[in-house]
Amino acid sequence: MISLHQVSHTFGGVRAVEGVDLDVGEHEFVAVIGRSGCGKSTLLRLVAGLLTPTGGRVFVAGEEVTRPRRDVSVMFQRPALLPWRTVLANVLLPAEILGLRDHRARAHELLELVGLGGFATRLPHELSGGMQQRVSLCRSLIQSPRVMLMDEPFSALDAITRTDLSLELQRVQREHPRSVLFVTHSIDEAVLLADRIVVLTPRPGRVHAVVDVRLPRPRALGQVELDEVSRSLRAVLGEVTV
Ligand SMILES: Nc1ncnc2c1ncn2[C@@H]1O[C@H](COP(=O)(O)OP(=O)(O)OP(=O)(O)O)[C@@H](O)[C@H]1O
Ligand SMILES: [Mg+2]
Repeated sequence: MISLHQVSHTFGGVRAVEGVDLDVGEHEFVAVIGRSGCGKSTLLRLVAGLLTPTGGRVFVAGEEVTRPRRDVSVMFQRPALLPWRTVLANVLLPAEILGLRDHRARAHELLELVGLGGFATRLPHELSGGMQQRVSLCRSLIQSPRVMLMDEPFSALDAITRTDLSLELQRVQREHPRSVLFVTHSIDEAVLLADRIVVLTPRPGRVHAVVDVRLPRPRALGQVELDEVSRSLRAVLGEVTV
């Protein structure tokens, strides 16, 4: 569904990513992990069509990416909700922009799914950070994307809320599977959610290793099998952090 061929990106002399080959299959959940500044966000923005690679090619659903696509949603680190719009109106925003009608029922369904059924008419400032991030998750699902790009979506949250939302994302992915490219700093989050974990080298980001997580779902934090994968991932990360 997502395919990167020898993708490189240079910002005015700064090599952010270099020679990245990466494929994400239909319904596959791939996590990208690596040091701060190693080019993870750059990689995501290349797939989102928000940046054009300076080398190599990026494909989504077999088509070269040249601009943002309506079947690809992007979720950033901060919820970025419009403060004057209600929760419902925020969730509906992408549908409005894309000119999709009759998405109100779907928006209510999604809010229900993430436990915000009673908050549709509230304004963002009336919600906690975790609730806002949940609204943002609904917003990225409203257009029924085939591909979801998520850039550290939960990193601004406290550990407990973060765990809750990771579990929620796992459930959403089980109920409505999509192709997901998920950037994170969290080893536990990556192991909980991903089918495969791509470890990048420090800048310029290159693929250092790919770790398969062949564990049944649903997964739970603290599971012995998860800890084993976390340990080996930590060892792989250790190789690239020196
Ligand atoms: N818009 C930009 N203009 C110039 N240089 C940039 C720009 N965006 C990123 N860079 C450079 O590319 C490198 C990779 O940045 P990127 O944001 O992709 O890193 P990251 O892996 O997402 O880091 P973090 O984990 O801190 O979010 C950075 O070190 C920075 O020097
Ligand atoms: Mg980043």
